[in-house]
Amino acid sequence: MTSSLHFLDWSQAFAHRLTGVSREKSPLRGQLAGTAARLADELDKGFLPCLSMPFKKNLERDLPAFEQRVKPFKHMLVLGIGGSALGARALQKAFFPEQDRPGHCGPWLWIADNIDADTLAVWMEALSPRETVVVVISKSGGTIETMAQYFLLRRWLRQTLGEQWKHHVILITDEKSGELRAEASALNLPSLPVPDFLGGRYSVLSAVGLLPAAFLGLNWRGLLQGAAEINSPLAKAAGRPEAMFSALEEHPAWGMAVWANELLSRGYSELIFFSYIPLWNFFGAWFSQLWAESLGKEGKGSMPVPAVGVTDQHSVNQMFLDGQRNKGCLFISCPHLDKGPSFGQEVPEKWAYLAGRQFGDLLLAESLGTRMALTRSQVPLLHVCMGSTDEAAAGRLMGLCMATTLLSGWLLGINPVDQPAVELGKRLANARLGAPGYAREEQELRDFLAAGEAAGDRQEF
Ligand code: PA5
Repeated sequence: MTSSLHFLDWSQAFAHRLTGVSREKSPLRGQLAGTAARLADELDKGFLPCLSMPFKKNLERDLPAFEQRVKPFKHMLVLGIGGSALGARALQKAFFPEQDRPGHCGPWLWIADNIDADTLAVWMEALSPRETVVVVISKSGGTIETMAQYFLLRRWLRQTLGEQWKHHVILITDEKSGELRAEASALNLPSLPVPDFLGGRYSVLSAVGLLPAAFLGLNWRGLLQGAAEINSPLAKAAGRPEAMFSALEEHPAWGMAVWANELLSRGYSELIFFSYIPLWNFFGAWFSQLWAESLGKEGKGSMPVPAVGVTDQHSVNQMFLDGQRNKGCLFISCPHLDKGPSFGQEVPEKWAYLAGRQFGDLLLAESLGTRMALTRSQVPLLHVCMGSTDEAAAGRLMGLCMATTLLSGWLLGINPVDQPAVELGKRLANARLGAPGYAREEQELRDFLAAGEAAGDRQEF
């Protein structure tokens, strides 16, 4: 694959109801100085490690030993959920599609990011503890889904391996606090830290995303480098509001955050993440969590809609093109993907135009067709054109998405690094399971269930 510069094509972004607006002319530009000052300050205080990556040095020092430690295993079973799983899966699918293809004979990475009893039973039945390393990833070290799986897998390892089970486990968790950290200390288990102030959905570039990817053989240094480079102009201006003003003004994340907020204020409540890089299909899931969990607060934020070209041309694209006019689109493509086999000359008359072309020409043509169709269908569209799709390129895109998300949250006036609304469901589940300290939730659950059982409100089908 050849490579060239990555670029943003803004030509169709400020279109339709955004016509007449631009990055420079947006009223949000008035917030540039304040945002720059805040960014300079928070970076200086170390509150935004996803941008400044102060952990990079230690990671580069410590990860190689863990890479060696996991190398002998055939299987890695990751226990984690949300931000503790989605980055690893995006990297796995992008850079190691082999596991889903014929003839693969390892290594195998399994990511347990759901509590599906059936799948867990199959893993425990089919995997050999001797050939498996279990990597437990939880920033808080207290997430019930992850901890519950850990309890079962710990027993599973112990039953076969006895005291040796400890050599088949790695914990990735907060450096100081949480049950998982306590477990690592008490049992002297190998562990790696999730750096301070690095929330789950911003943690893909730490050991959270990189140990699983390193197990598969990822050039994780390239990924780190790409992410560090894109945000280094911001990191370098830490503590210097005036320098930050120009660094931010020129940074693509600023323009993207302005654009995302302008979309929202004009009724575009959904943001499509349309990837025409087929192997990057899970980047959409990663981005969706980052965007939704960061920005869905106080009735604000746009709904991320992950889509994959060309598959979704035959699925949800009709809705994108002619449903509600409430969608903007981040359109990701790369003109330099390997094109695969050639059709040669032996194609039926009806398809003669394919003769001499390569399979990949189809993707390029359909990508262009869909991109133009979306813009014709009143979808403001920002084209993110990748010059390559190697690890450094992926790191750049991830770094850019994280910076854009943070800035979007600040422009919206919400906190993009917490997720308070998801706590209620967790408390209610705890109450249901009989955890102590949830008396009020238990009562609320009883009322809720009673309402559902009321005569007349149920319809069999
Ligand atoms: O982005 C987030 O903070 C969340 O999605 C978390 O990653 C998720 O809830 C898992 O949390 P933890 O890593 O503490 O187990």
